[in-house]
Amino acid sequence: MNTSSQLFLSLIAVSLISLSAFGATTTIHPDEKKALQDIANSLGKKNWNFDTDPCSNKNWFTELENSVTCNCSVAGDNFCHVVTMDLTGNQMSGNIPSELGSLTHIRTLQLSSNNFTRELPATLAKLTALRDFRISDNQLSGKIPGFIQNWTNIDTLIVQGSGLSGPIPSEISLLRNIIELRISDLNGSEYAPLPQLSNMKLLTRL
Ligand SMILES: *[C@@H]1O[C@H](CO)[C@@H](O)[C@H](O)[C@H]1NC(C)=O
Ligand SMILES: *[C@@H]1O[C@H](CO)[C@@H](O)[C@H](O)[C@H]1NC(C)=O
Ligand SMILES: *[C@@H]1O[C@H](CO)[C@@H](O)[C@H](O)[C@H]1NC(C)=O
Ligand SMILES: *[C@@H]1O[C@H](CO)[C@@H](O)[C@H](O)[C@H]1NC(C)=O
Repeated sequence: MNTSSQLFLSLIAVSLISLSAFGATTTIHPDEKKALQDIANSLGKKNWNFDTDPCSNKNWFTELENSVTCNCSVAGDNFCHVVTMDLTGNQMSGNIPSELGSLTHIRTLQLSSNNFTRELPATLAKLTALRDFRISDNQLSGKIPGFIQNWTNIDTLIVQGSGLSGPIPSEISLLRNIIELRISDLNGSEYAPLPQLSNMKLLTRL
Protein backbone atom coordinates (compact mmCIF):
# COMPACT_ATOMS: atom_id res chain seq x y z
CA MET A 1 0.00 0.00 0.00
CA ASN A 2 1.43 3.40 -0.88
CA THR A 3 1.50 6.24 1.56
CA SER A 4 -1.33 8.18 -0.06
CA SER A 5 -3.80 5.29 0.21
CA GLN A 6 -2.63 4.69 3.79
CA LEU A 7 -3.28 8.34 4.50
CA PHE A 8 -6.68 8.02 2.87
CA LEU A 9 -7.60 5.00 4.98
CA SER A 10 -6.49 6.63 8.18
CA LEU A 11 -8.52 9.73 7.30
CA ILE A 12 -11.57 7.51 6.92
CA ALA A 13 -10.82 5.88 10.26
CA VAL A 14 -10.47 9.28 11.94
CA SER A 15 -13.77 10.47 10.45
CA LEU A 16 -15.58 7.37 11.61
CA ILE A 17 -14.20 7.72 15.11
CA SER A 18 -15.14 11.38 15.34
CA LEU A 19 -18.62 10.70 13.98
CA SER A 20 -19.27 8.25 16.77
CA ALA A 21 -17.46 10.32 19.39
CA PHE A 22 -19.36 13.51 18.62
CA GLY A 23 -22.69 11.87 18.07
CA ALA A 24 -23.68 12.62 14.50
CA THR A 25 -26.93 10.90 15.32
CA THR A 26 -30.31 12.38 14.45
CA THR A 27 -32.30 9.86 16.40
CA ILE A 28 -34.85 10.95 18.94
CA HIS A 29 -34.41 9.61 22.47
CA PRO A 30 -36.59 6.48 22.73
CA ASP A 31 -38.43 7.78 25.81
CA GLU A 32 -39.42 10.90 23.89
CA LYS A 33 -40.52 8.91 20.84
CA LYS A 34 -42.76 6.88 23.13
CA ALA A 35 -44.08 10.08 24.69
CA LEU A 36 -44.85 11.57 21.26
CA GLN A 37 -46.69 8.40 20.27
CA ASP A 38 -48.74 8.54 23.47
CA ILE A 39 -49.44 12.23 22.89
CA ALA A 40 -50.56 11.49 19.31
CA ASN A 41 -52.89 8.75 20.58
CA SER A 42 -54.26 10.95 23.29
CA LEU A 43 -54.93 13.81 20.88
CA GLY A 44 -56.13 11.62 18.05
CA LYS A 45 -53.43 13.02 15.81
CA LYS A 46 -53.01 11.17 12.55
CA ASN A 47 -50.55 13.47 10.87
CA TRP A 48 -47.45 12.55 12.84
CA ASN A 49 -45.75 9.84 10.82
CA PHE A 50 -43.80 7.58 13.14
CA ASP A 51 -42.26 5.68 10.24
CA THR A 52 -39.94 8.68 10.10
CA ASP A 53 -37.84 9.75 13.04
CA PRO A 54 -39.47 12.86 14.54
CA CYS A 55 -36.04 14.53 14.77
CA SER A 56 -34.88 13.72 11.24
CA ASN A 57 -36.32 16.86 9.63
CA LYS A 58 -37.75 14.63 6.92
CA ASN A 59 -41.48 15.23 6.67
CA TRP A 60 -42.33 13.73 9.99
CA PHE A 61 -45.35 15.98 10.30
CA THR A 62 -47.49 16.97 7.40
CA GLU A 63 -48.64 20.44 8.37
CA LEU A 64 -46.56 23.38 9.45
CA GLU A 65 -48.72 24.11 12.49
CA ASN A 66 -47.92 20.70 13.96
CA SER A 67 -44.31 21.60 14.24
CA VAL A 68 -41.95 19.86 16.60
CA THR A 69 -38.28 20.69 16.56
CA CYS A 70 -35.39 18.88 18.16
CA ASN A 71 -31.88 19.65 19.32
CA CYS A 72 -29.39 16.79 19.00
CA SER A 73 -26.77 18.26 21.32
CA VAL A 74 -28.87 19.73 24.10
CA ALA A 75 -28.34 16.82 26.52
CA GLY A 76 -24.93 15.60 25.40
CA ASP A 77 -26.23 12.03 25.32
CA ASN A 78 -26.04 11.22 21.58
CA PHE A 79 -29.80 11.54 21.22
CA CYS A 80 -32.00 14.26 19.87
CA HIS A 81 -34.56 15.81 22.19
CA VAL A 82 -37.72 17.74 21.50
CA VAL A 83 -37.13 21.44 22.21
CA THR A 84 -40.23 23.03 20.72
CA MET A 85 -43.80 21.96 20.09
CA ASP A 86 -46.35 24.26 18.55
CA LEU A 87 -49.92 22.98 18.50
CA THR A 88 -51.56 26.41 18.25
CA GLY A 89 -55.00 26.45 16.67
CA ASN A 90 -55.32 22.71 16.04
CA GLN A 91 -58.95 22.31 17.24
CA MET A 92 -57.82 19.86 19.87
CA SER A 93 -60.06 18.88 22.72
CA GLY A 94 -59.85 16.68 25.79
CA ASN A 95 -57.18 16.97 28.41
CA ILE A 96 -53.65 18.12 27.84
CA PRO A 97 -51.65 14.88 27.58
CA SER A 98 -49.69 14.15 30.74
CA GLU A 99 -46.91 12.61 28.59
CA LEU A 100 -45.81 16.13 27.67
CA GLY A 101 -44.04 15.95 31.03
CA SER A 102 -41.60 13.45 29.52
CA LEU A 103 -40.24 16.03 27.07
CA THR A 104 -37.86 17.28 29.71
CA HIS A 105 -35.71 19.39 27.38
CA ILE A 106 -38.59 21.28 25.84
CA ARG A 107 -38.17 25.05 25.79
CA THR A 108 -41.19 26.23 23.86
CA LEU A 109 -44.65 24.73 24.31
CA GLN A 110 -47.49 26.47 22.52
CA LEU A 111 -50.99 25.10 23.10
CA SER A 112 -53.09 28.23 22.55
CA SER A 113 -56.35 28.39 20.59
CA ASN A 114 -57.56 24.86 21.08
CA ASN A 115 -60.39 23.36 23.06
CA PHE A 116 -58.44 21.72 25.84
CA THR A 117 -60.42 21.00 28.99
CA ARG A 118 -59.70 19.97 32.59
CA GLU A 119 -56.64 20.86 34.60
CA LEU A 120 -53.05 21.34 33.55
CA PRO A 121 -51.41 17.95 34.23
CA ALA A 122 -49.06 17.90 37.21
CA THR A 123 -46.38 16.25 35.05
CA LEU A 124 -45.74 19.66 33.49
CA ALA A 125 -43.87 20.45 36.71
CA LYS A 126 -40.99 18.42 35.28
CA LEU A 127 -40.44 20.80 32.37
CA THR A 128 -37.70 22.78 34.06
CA ALA A 129 -36.08 23.84 30.75
CA LEU A 130 -39.26 25.59 29.63
CA ARG A 131 -38.83 29.17 28.46
CA ASP A 132 -42.00 29.93 26.57
CA PHE A 133 -45.41 28.54 27.55
CA ARG A 134 -48.66 29.66 25.93
CA ILE A 135 -52.10 28.31 26.79
CA SER A 136 -54.52 31.11 25.81
CA ASP A 137 -57.99 30.51 24.33
CA ASN A 138 -58.84 27.12 25.79
CA GLN A 139 -61.54 25.71 28.10
CA LEU A 140 -59.37 24.50 30.96
CA SER A 141 -60.57 24.30 34.52
CA GLY A 142 -58.87 24.57 37.88
CA LYS A 143 -56.39 27.13 39.07
CA ILE A 144 -53.09 28.25 37.68
CA PRO A 145 -50.95 25.62 39.41
CA GLY A 146 -48.31 26.49 41.98
CA PHE A 147 -45.92 24.06 40.28
CA ILE A 148 -45.11 26.75 37.73
CA GLN A 149 -42.49 27.73 40.28
CA ASN A 150 -40.46 24.88 38.77
CA TRP A 151 -40.23 26.71 35.46
CA THR A 152 -37.30 28.75 36.63
CA ASN A 153 -36.01 29.41 33.11
CA ILE A 154 -39.30 30.73 31.79
CA ASP A 155 -39.18 34.11 30.06
CA THR A 156 -42.58 34.15 28.37
CA LEU A 157 -45.81 33.04 30.06
CA ILE A 158 -49.07 33.72 28.27
CA VAL A 159 -52.38 32.64 29.83
CA GLN A 160 -55.27 34.65 28.39
CA GLY A 161 -58.81 33.31 28.24
CA SER A 162 -57.58 29.82 29.13
CA GLY A 163 -60.51 28.84 31.36
CA LEU A 164 -58.16 28.64 34.35
CA SER A 165 -59.27 30.53 37.39
CA GLY A 166 -57.47 32.78 39.79
CA PRO A 167 -55.93 33.85 41.98
CA ILE A 168 -52.52 33.98 40.37
CA PRO A 169 -50.34 31.80 42.63
CA SER A 170 -47.78 33.59 44.74
CA GLU A 171 -45.16 31.11 43.43
CA ILE A 172 -45.08 33.18 40.26
CA SER A 173 -42.85 35.62 42.09
CA LEU A 174 -40.08 32.98 42.00
CA LEU A 175 -39.83 33.20 38.22
CA ARG A 176 -37.03 35.67 38.00
CA ASN A 177 -36.35 35.38 34.27
CA ILE A 178 -39.78 36.47 33.09
CA ILE A 179 -39.67 39.04 30.30
CA GLU A 180 -43.23 38.81 29.05
CA LEU A 181 -46.07 37.92 31.40
CA ARG A 182 -49.63 38.06 30.13
CA ILE A 183 -52.33 36.60 32.35
CA SER A 184 -55.86 37.82 31.80
CA ASP A 185 -59.52 36.77 31.68
CA LEU A 186 -59.17 34.32 34.52
CA ASN A 187 -62.38 32.42 35.18
CA GLY A 188 -64.33 32.97 38.33
CA SER A 189 -61.69 35.16 39.85
CA GLU A 190 -63.11 37.20 42.62
CA TYR A 191 -60.87 40.16 43.19
CA ALA A 192 -57.40 38.91 44.02
CA PRO A 193 -54.35 41.11 44.27
CA LEU A 194 -51.45 40.46 41.95
CA PRO A 195 -48.67 38.73 43.85
CA GLN A 196 -45.36 40.35 44.56
CA LEU A 197 -43.50 40.72 41.25
CA SER A 198 -40.49 42.68 42.35
CA ASN A 199 -38.14 39.72 41.81
CA MET A 200 -38.81 39.90 38.12
CA LYS A 201 -36.01 42.23 37.20
CA LEU A 202 -36.29 41.45 33.50
CA LEU A 203 -40.02 41.93 33.15
CA THR A 204 -40.76 44.32 30.31
CA ARG A 205 -44.27 43.42 29.27
CA LEU A 206 -47.19 42.82 31.60
C1 LIG B 1 -28.79 23.00 21.03
O1 LIG B 1 -28.40 22.90 22.38
C2 LIG B 1 -27.08 23.37 22.61
C3 LIG B 1 -26.75 23.07 24.07
O2 LIG B 1 -27.70 23.66 24.94
C4 LIG B 1 -27.02 24.84 22.28
O3 LIG B 1 -25.70 25.33 22.50
C5 LIG B 1 -27.39 25.05 20.82
O4 LIG B 1 -27.45 26.41 20.53
C6 LIG B 1 -28.75 24.43 20.54
N1 LIG B 1 -29.01 24.47 19.12
C7 LIG B 1 -30.06 25.10 18.62
C8 LIG B 1 -30.19 25.03 17.13
O5 LIG B 1 -30.84 25.69 19.32
C1 LIG C 1 -64.88 23.80 21.20
O1 LIG C 1 -65.91 23.17 21.94
C2 LIG C 1 -67.15 23.82 21.85
C3 LIG C 1 -68.10 23.17 22.81
O2 LIG C 1 -67.96 21.79 22.81
C4 LIG C 1 -67.61 23.75 20.39
O3 LIG C 1 -68.84 24.41 20.26
C5 LIG C 1 -66.58 24.43 19.52
O4 LIG C 1 -66.94 24.30 18.17
C6 LIG C 1 -65.21 23.82 19.72
N1 LIG C 1 -64.23 24.62 19.03
C7 LIG C 1 -63.23 24.07 18.34
C8 LIG C 1 -62.28 25.04 17.72
O5 LIG C 1 -63.09 22.86 18.26
C1 LIG D 1 -39.99 20.29 40.29
O1 LIG D 1 -38.88 19.78 39.58
C2 LIG D 1 -38.08 18.89 40.33
C3 LIG D 1 -36.85 18.58 39.50
O2 LIG D 1 -37.22 18.12 38.22
C4 LIG D 1 -38.91 17.67 40.68
O3 LIG D 1 -38.13 16.78 41.45
C5 LIG D 1 -40.12 18.10 41.47
O4 LIG D 1 -40.94 16.99 41.71
C6 LIG D 1 -40.90 19.15 40.70
N1 LIG D 1 -41.98 19.70 41.49
C7 LIG D 1 -43.23 19.28 41.37
C8 LIG D 1 -44.23 20.01 42.21
O5 LIG D 1 -43.54 18.37 40.62
C1 LIG E 1 -64.62 30.52 31.58
O1 LIG E 1 -65.27 31.75 31.24
C2 LIG E 1 -65.73 31.79 29.91
C3 LIG E 1 -66.23 33.19 29.65
O2 LIG E 1 -67.05 33.62 30.70
C4 LIG E 1 -66.81 30.73 29.72
O3 LIG E 1 -67.26 30.74 28.37
C5 LIG E 1 -66.21 29.37 30.02
O4 LIG E 1 -67.18 28.37 29.92
C6 LIG E 1 -65.59 29.34 31.41
N1 LIG E 1 -64.87 28.10 31.57
C7 LIG E 1 -64.98 27.37 32.66
C8 LIG E 1 -64.15 26.13 32.70
O5 LIG E 1 -65.70 27.68 33.59
